[in-house]
Amino acid sequence: MSLHIVILAAGQGKRMNSALPKVLQTLGDRPLLKHVVESAQALDPARIHVVYGHGGQAVQSALGYLDVNWVFQAEQLGTGHAVAQAMDAIPDDAQVLVLYGDVPLVRPATLGHLVGAAGQHALALLTVVLDNPAGYGRVLRDDNNRVVGIVEDKDASTDERHIRETNTGLLCAQSNHLRDWLARLTNANAQGEYYLTDCIGLAAEDEVAVVAGQAGTVAETQGINNRLDLSRAERLFQRRQAETLMAAGLTLRDPGRFDLRGTLKAGRDTVIDIDVVIEGDVVLGEGVTIGPHCVLRHCQIEDHTQVASHTVIEHASIGARCQIGPFARLRPETRVADRAKIGNFVETKKTTLGIGSKVNHLSYVGDARVGRNVNIGAGVITCNYDGANKYVTQIGDDAFIGSDCQLVAPVAVEQGATIGAGTTLTQTAPANKLTLGRARQTTIDGWQRPKKHNPGHQ
Ligand code: UD1
Ligand code: CA
Repeated sequence: MSLHIVILAAGQGKRMNSALPKVLQTLGDRPLLKHVVESAQALDPARIHVVYGHGGQAVQSALGYLDVNWVFQAEQLGTGHAVAQAMDAIPDDAQVLVLYGDVPLVRPATLGHLVGAAGQHALALLTVVLDNPAGYGRVLRDDNNRVVGIVEDKDASTDERHIRETNTGLLCAQSNHLRDWLARLTNANAQGEYYLTDCIGLAAEDEVAVVAGQAGTVAETQGINNRLDLSRAERLFQRRQAETLMAAGLTLRDPGRFDLRGTLKAGRDTVIDIDVVIEGDVVLGEGVTIGPHCVLRHCQIEDHTQVASHTVIEHASIGARCQIGPFARLRPETRVADRAKIGNFVETKKTTLGIGSKVNHLSYVGDARVGRNVNIGAGVITCNYDGANKYVTQIGDDAFIGSDCQLVAPVAVEQGATIGAGTTLTQTAPANKLTLGRARQTTIDGWQRPKKHNPGHQ
């Protein structure tokens, strides 16, 4: 029997108060629906069908690339109606697993159990016992403890509202059964909707076995209805990622203060301090340390490099045993070779820094090709932009740039050259010589400081 997975994602999510359709809200920077599709993909189904409706255009432009069958539900007439829209594309001899686009954290293992429990003949549904079941469909059982139906909160009697076993909404059944039950649904209920959950009562009537499986944890079945739910789910998602990374040898000083919004590969004994945000694809070698409050976005950092606090690195690569920060900003296309140092309040962009070179304090180095063992003093600025075009600064190996120099690009400092402090360099500085561009210092004898005028004589 082939497995078809139907993901219901047509709802608006009014309680989000958002311009975005609910399924495009994000966890770890990925849309909720993408999380669900990824969990579905982990089961290797024959096909995934996504029923979408509200914000259809937005959903399509954000996620249209996903390898799924998009099924448009023009009007949201209920979860049963939604599943029915997808049934045309599902053969009779298939198993159908129904997931919700706003239940993003359900684990593939839990789904696998549900599919296993449904087997060839049964209807399996995932239920969860809640202390506060308000709002959820309640699971009805007969005297033999067999599941005989689900009653929606809005249709439930006072007695039924006391039932704490609730429906997560996730279920699995045979395609031919489901097709039959869906055709028999009516919308004669409190919400005037075609409830998917009425299939459970129909299954019991037809004497199809109904298996209620409990979820591994309550948390994984939590639906997201508002921004508070979203923030809780985010922490749960981050916790999971943190635990996986820690198991693989990464130290997180506090897994509760760690945010990975993308992918992270980290070598053993790498340490990440608190409140670090990681975005995009980040690769850290072994024994790397990342200080507190750093932002790492699409970057690669090799073994034993230390990044001190409050450093922002994006689209950059850094070699081994470097020291970066605190308070450094490495902008796109910064390439730092091994054992280099970039200190506080230094900004780099489109710059390569050779092995062992140092830019320790308060500099802007942009569009620069810096050789090995170069020392760039405090407050050095590459003047790379004339208001219209950008130009390159070349600095040869072993050069020494004194403090507070301006290097007006295009310009070159040759190998071993020394530039005196305060120089505004506009022409090539020849190799192994001292170049200075500095007004001569003079002292005026007999000069007197101005004095303050008498008050009244202004
Ligand atoms: C549903 C279940 C309820 C369960 C609860 C768990 C039904 C009738 N009720 O209630 O038993 O306890 O989930 O969270 O199924 N959707 C569509 N098209 C529609 C209607 C809904 O795609 O016409 C989608 C929504 O976008 C959402 C999902 O189906 O992803 C669930 O719909 P929602 O309206 O939130 O159902 P609940 O009232 O929460
Ligand atoms: Ca819901």
